[in-house]
Amino acid sequence: MRVGVLTGGGDCPGLNAVLRAVTRKGISVHQHEILGFRSGWLGPVEGLTTPLTLDRVEDILSRGGTILGSSRTNPYKVDDGIARLKATLAENRVDALIAIGGEDTLGVAEQLTHDGVPVVGVPKTIDNDLDATDYTFGFDTAVHIATEAIDRLRTTAESHHRALVVEVMGRHAGWIALHSGLAGGANVILVPEKPFSVDQVCEWVEQRFERQYAPIIVVAEGAVPEGGKELLVTGDRDAFGHVRLGGVGTWLADEIAKRTGKESRAVVLGHVQRGGTPTAYDRVLATRFGLHAIDAITEGDYGKMVALRGTDIVRVPLREATAQLKTVPLERYAEAEVLFG
Ligand code: F6P
Repeated sequence: MRVGVLTGGGDCPGLNAVLRAVTRKGISVHQHEILGFRSGWLGPVEGLTTPLTLDRVEDILSRGGTILGSSRTNPYKVDDGIARLKATLAENRVDALIAIGGEDTLGVAEQLTHDGVPVVGVPKTIDNDLDATDYTFGFDTAVHIATEAIDRLRTTAESHHRALVVEVMGRHAGWIALHSGLAGGANVILVPEKPFSVDQVCEWVEQRFERQYAPIIVVAEGAVPEGGKELLVTGDRDAFGHVRLGGVGTWLADEIAKRTGKESRAVVLGHVQRGGTPTAYDRVLATRFGLHAIDAITEGDYGKMVALRGTDIVRVPLREATAQLKTVPLERYAEAEVLFG
């Protein structure tokens, strides 16, 4: 068999571990040929290919990013996109595709299965917001990076008696904020799932200062003040209709300073959370996803996504994975709320 593979959407640590596992098992166990498509869905649309051989995937397990490159191309929004994609697959004699991505990339994979393209999906996103899997790889690494940043920011915040607002990624889901905030002992955690009261945040900030400690506020980029709207870097939409979020951290730090009279600073962690080497957990999860994805392809079990359930890797319909986002349940957020202030 000739198996195509691509990585789409925002990159995340662990993508190379999947590529390595797919290639190693695909070639050595199943005797497949593996063809990489570059730059997400742009690859099969434009015919951008690169063979994945055993040599090519040597030494990439611990490397962040993706050796295939990525993009947010939506082939359904490109002129003749699907016809061109199918033509590329035919020219390259590709029998089936492995698409590694988040809600957007896998949404396309789902549509393609209805349009006659055999695809198996692998879930990735630092946001951990894909519904049908307990965890996505990349999330653990992002949480580690954010937690380390919070630990570092705490000592400087305390030296200067300042409030420090840490803005983390999380467009619709506050998993990174919740987990890094809990791990880092943040005094306030704000997530997109629950609009926040600025007065209440200021009260928690004051409480913390009263105890002679400097407050740390972790805010997801998609968090919104009560009665307000998401803050945007730009209103321009990508091919999947997403705007670029950002700015809530700086806005909140200014509000805190104005309302409490205390010095406040904001730090935006941004793409640092997506860069660098994956944690051991993410390397293992990504490797297992890759090994199971190439098995699903070999068995012709298309239209599925590999997923983590407990400690098992299972296959779920792509439809289930993309039907809705996995957001932070309010009861889970409430567990953390008792520690605020
Ligand atoms: O989808 C993951 C994510 O990390 C979001 O949390 C964030 O809004 C987005 O990617 C930003 O991605 P980029 O700047 O690469 O478009």
